[in-house]
Amino acid sequence: MFKVNPELTAKVVEIHNDLYHYGSQIIEIQNFYEDPDSVREYAISCEKYTKEDNEDLLASAIGRRVCEDTLELGYQIKDTFEQLCKHPGWGIEFNKEDHDYYWSGMRFTVNVTNNQEIIDDGRDMIAHVDSDFLKWACVIFLNKPEECEGGTGFYRYDSDNDKIYLEHLSIMEYNKAVLYPSSMPHGAIMEKSMFKTCDRLVQVLFM
Ligand SMILES: [Fe+2]
Repeated sequence: MFKVNPELTAKVVEIHNDLYHYGSQIIEIQNFYEDPDSVREYAISCEKYTKEDNEDLLASAIGRRVCEDTLELGYQIKDTFEQLCKHPGWGIEFNKEDHDYYWSGMRFTVNVTNNQEIIDDGRDMIAHVDSDFLKWACVIFLNKPEECEGGTGFYRYDSDNDKIYLEHLSIMEYNKAVLYPSSMPHGAIMEKSMFKTCDRLVQVLFM
């Protein structure tokens, strides 16, 4: 199910951010899974947890989250991420031991959010950085083309006026993966008018 498309094309996007001395690039990969429909169907079939079920599990996610133990995910895609994380342009040192550690416990995690949950959350912007313990994170969009709205935003912090600015919008496209340094400010772009007829489905990986 999680088999990676054998012919991936990766596009590197430079994100200007003076605050961070390393990891100023993201990598966008189209057509990531060979069979994204099966991954999407699996995500839809899985149990979804809310903040009431487990606050830690949701972390910064809004709405619900799928979180399934599966050995197949690591088996199928770990090596691809090792290659991506060794990209010479990253400026983040690759450490095989850390990488193996994170992948040994990698779960199938999907953020699931609908229109009412976006409204209930109330925030206009959801920019944050992921945990200090991590080096990279990745989102993979699992909405069909006709369902795609918004995406993931990457931000620049301006210390002069203590504000953050949207530097790059990685638009939502079915089966597109976006790998980014976990220290880079980012957030889901979801407006209060979006996802009225379907759930937003975004797989997330942290490593
Ligand atoms: Fe995040």
